[in-house]
Amino acid sequence: MTSTASQAARPASHSANHLTVHPIAGAIGAEIHGVDLVGGVSDAEVAEIRKIWLQYSVIFFRDQPLPPKEFAAFARRFGDVVHYPFLKGLDEAPEVITVAKLENERVNFGGLWHTDTAYLDKPPMATMLVAREVPPYGGDTLFASGYAAYEALSDGMKRMLDPLRALNSSTKAEKTRTREDRKPGQERQVLEAEHPVVRTHPETGRKALYLNIGHTLRFADMTEEESAGLLAYLFEHQSKPEFTCRFSWKPGSIALWDNRCALHNPINDYHGHRRIMHRVTIAGDVPK
Ligand code: SIN
Repeated sequence: MTSTASQAARPASHSANHLTVHPIAGAIGAEIHGVDLVGGVSDAEVAEIRKIWLQYSVIFFRDQPLPPKEFAAFARRFGDVVHYPFLKGLDEAPEVITVAKLENERVNFGGLWHTDTAYLDKPPMATMLVAREVPPYGGDTLFASGYAAYEALSDGMKRMLDPLRALNSSTKAEKTRTREDRKPGQERQVLEAEHPVVRTHPETGRKALYLNIGHTLRFADMTEEESAGLLAYLFEHQSKPEFTCRFSWKPGSIALWDNRCALHNPINDYHGHRRIMHRVTIAGDVPK
């Protein structure tokens, strides 16, 4: 089966109650319009948003400049909010961290394909990001569907990968380390967790490839050298353009992504300009 053939056709846009859903790519990602997060949302609206989120794996809202406390409160409607291990939160909302690249910096936060903190035993179910300041150009974020990547594999490859586990480590990439470097006075901490290579989403029941170049070190019970060839193939495979979408931020844009089935990669193409985001993560379970 080819990768494009694995994607079911999606409508150009559709309405769910008073919300309008605009898919932005074939495999993943939709903008939701017709909701005012700043004014407050009902439980029924949150339930509807969650349904759309589960369908598209990452959803986007425009012009919703929720202040930090309200941003964290909105995230809490989806689950318990968890602290990020390597950065201190805001004084006014400790569960919210700042993701920043300043004019004089060259490295961006998390600037490679990854799912968030896959080196934890219970990686976060979801991450929510709101844009505060954006560069005049660039600074988009790419997202990739772990479902589409898995579904496009041959039956033989699926059978081989299904029982495998892999080791994820916070030390994998130099770029990931820049996050740790931002928290002063803390010794470098190494966090590691072994997870299934193919995980079954606990809410949708769909299988997704759960590996990422940012954190996955090797297959369980294998050396890094033995793992390298197949991992390199899978890292390349999982970020094929047809499995991805690209989101261009404006101040007040919000993204909510599902770390159980979606990878992301913020593009570092705006040196000399400032990009400031606020981020919150929502608790997940042990991948199965
Ligand atoms: C992240 O990896 O959480 C940052 C994503 C972004 O800055 O777009």
